[in-house]
Amino acid sequence: TFPERVTLVEVGPRDGLQNEPQPVSADTRIALVDRLAAAGLPVVEAGAFVSPRWVPQMADSDAVLTGITPRPGVRYPVLVPNTKGLDKALASGAREIAVFAAASETFSKKNINASIAESLERFAPVMEQARANGVAVRGYVSCVLGCPYEGAIAPEQVAWVAERLMELGCYEVSLGDTIGVGTPLKARRLVETVGARVPVEKLAAHFHDTYGQALANLVTVLDQGIATVDTAVAGLGGCPYAPGAAGNVATEDVLYMLDGMGIATGADLHAVAAIGRWISEQLDRPIASQAGKALVAR
Ligand code: HMG
Ligand code: MG
Repeated sequence: TFPERVTLVEVGPRDGLQNEPQPVSADTRIALVDRLAAAGLPVVEAGAFVSPRWVPQMADSDAVLTGITPRPGVRYPVLVPNTKGLDKALASGAREIAVFAAASETFSKKNINASIAESLERFAPVMEQARANGVAVRGYVSCVLGCPYEGAIAPEQVAWVAERLMELGCYEVSLGDTIGVGTPLKARRLVETVGARVPVEKLAAHFHDTYGQALANLVTVLDQGIATVDTAVAGLGGCPYAPGAAGNVATEDVLYMLDGMGIATGADLHAVAAIGRWISEQLDRPIASQAGKALVAR
């Protein structure tokens, strides 16, 4: 059965912009975050405190975090790979962070230069320091439905990593179909398998839309009880260490679908579509959202 309410986690300012060929100014990123929060999105991932040598697009995340105008009730998580990133995030006033692991050894190496086991070890002091500072931590698992380097990934492997992240103290684990290769029955099997180890209420779906399967996969996992969905305005997104990764499922497309299903989100579809049009103009790229295009054309 479908949830009555879904929490949307808007990842456009982070996942969406981390892969853009042209650097996006801190001012534009600040405006993007503020507009998305004003449109009723309850969680807006604002940046990443990662190595600027690895992902130059996320440099200045400190300027973004200190430049936004926080809205009461809205959360602004940032990605953190290690204690160095956590120190910087805390200095910029972060109240919530996300650590990111992978279900594929090769992807883990390419993305964060660590094996899966090393990455979990690296997160332990991050979790401890976050807890000491009252900072909530979300966990990501990448490559849950396939890896750009290794191909198919066993759901049991995803379940193992997700369970470790919960044991470390994450309040939720977001399942990343990093390269958007999943299809509905595989997504269902994944949530069945991971759900046997981590309560499904603690899971989020983070589906990229490379093959146009994200909405179909979302319907499947929503029906299994997942009630948190990561989306990116205008379908922005990709991962610099996942060749061929396209954008996240578009916020506009998910909102149109959920509105039509009578599932509450608190976000305003028309306001989000207007933001999608604006940011696509800023980036000089077409709107990668079907609903966004349809609404803008009317
Ligand atoms: P490394 O090279 O092994 O780390 O990278 P290191 O500790 O040897 O440090 C190298 C340099 O980076 C040093 O600088 C450090 O000080 C600096 P140098 O002395 O050479 O000038 N450094 C940092 N600077 C700022 N902030 C930091 C930081 N850490 C080290 N936090 C590391 C290891 C993890 C740092 C690197 O691999 C990294 O930053 N990776 C991040 C990659 C990334 O951001 N990928 C995209 C996000 S994940 C994603 O998109 C998937 C997701 O959306 C879900 C899905 O779709 O599946 C979440
Ligand atoms: Mg992603």
